[in-house]
Amino acid sequence: MKVTNKKNVVKAISAISQNHNIKRNKIKRLAEKKGKKRKKISKKALIEAGLKNETKKPKTKIESTINNNLTKLTSISFQGASGNSSTVLHKQQKQVERDKKPVSFIKRMKDKLKGARFRYLNEQFYSSTSQDALQFFLKDPEAFKAYHSGYMQQVIQWPVKPLDVIIKQITTILKNSKKNVATIIADFGCGDAKLAQAFPEIKIHSFDLIAVNQYVTAGDMAHTGLANGSVDIVVFCLSLMGTNLQSFIKEANRVLKIGGLMKIAEVESRFDNISIFVTNLTKYGFENTKVDQAIEMFVFMDFKKTQDISKTAIKKKLPILELKPCIYKKR
Ligand SMILES: C[S@@+](CC[C@H](N)C(=O)[O-])C[C@H]1O[C@@H](n2cnc3c(N)ncnc32)[C@H](O)[C@@H]1O
Repeated sequence: MKVTNKKNVVKAISAISQNHNIKRNKIKRLAEKKGKKRKKISKKALIEAGLKNETKKPKTKIESTINNNLTKLTSISFQGASGNSSTVLHKQQKQVERDKKPVSFIKRMKDKLKGARFRYLNEQFYSSTSQDALQFFLKDPEAFKAYHSGYMQQVIQWPVKPLDVIIKQITTILKNSKKNVATIIADFGCGDAKLAQAFPEIKIHSFDLIAVNQYVTAGDMAHTGLANGSVDIVVFCLSLMGTNLQSFIKEANRVLKIGGLMKIAEVESRFDNISIFVTNLTKYGFENTKVDQAIEMFVFMDFKKTQDISKTAIKKKLPILELKPCIYKKR
């Protein structure tokens, strides 16, 4: 299509976008018709979440037509339009280019560097003991800030946030619990303590290596300092990070009341074999009450404390618990 004046450009763009909308709605209707059991997350969302690699595909016809026309639009000189509007548009265009080019380039480079630093810190985290990670972040609290903000950047792109799922589940538990019995929760590896902020009326102990706000108690969750058998619910939301994860589970067993609940949410790809992991974990004084893989990418598990392992000899025979690091893909 030859674009010669402003009117035609507007017509061309609206025709393309109408066509695009029709196709998009058709795909949507087809997807709805199919009706899926498992909460499927689109490939695009997984790529955006950094949990899947992007494979470069050729642009669709529609995309390239829109892009071509947009390129034409930015370089076109409106021969048919009045001199005035042409000058105004030209000036606006120039201003946008002046504003856009250097800023977007620098921002892109900065984002790349931030992303690379986050991925490096994240990998270190998963391949060190919690003692080493704590020493490292105590010496360099800025590095913790960089890790934390990098993680937040990832999370905002996830279609389902595991902590939101846990908040929902705890809301139901609290609704069904006896009104006169206070529930005490410990959030192990709490990040910015969103869980505690969601339930201001409940006593929630929030632990993380470094405190990013006033809700967080700084320290290694392998040694929380909480009293034996004092907690009703322990939460590990994507926080089984150190190589010494046995010590986190032992600590959870120590602080939980008998019958208390341990909730774990993890990235599915960290498991070699989920049922072996679950069986091994039950040896730490727990009964497995739920394994939920309904949400793609994540596993949600519940365990009930049945035994206090700190007082028995079985702690000598505990199996090793292992998880693979969660590697965020380069975007
Ligand atoms: C992936 S983030 C998840 C944060 C939060 N649970 C959420 O779901 O938003 C994992 C957090 O666990 C913390 N963490 C890992 N190992 C820890 C340890 N040994 N003691 C305390 N916090 C730890 C990390 O510092 C990080 O903030």
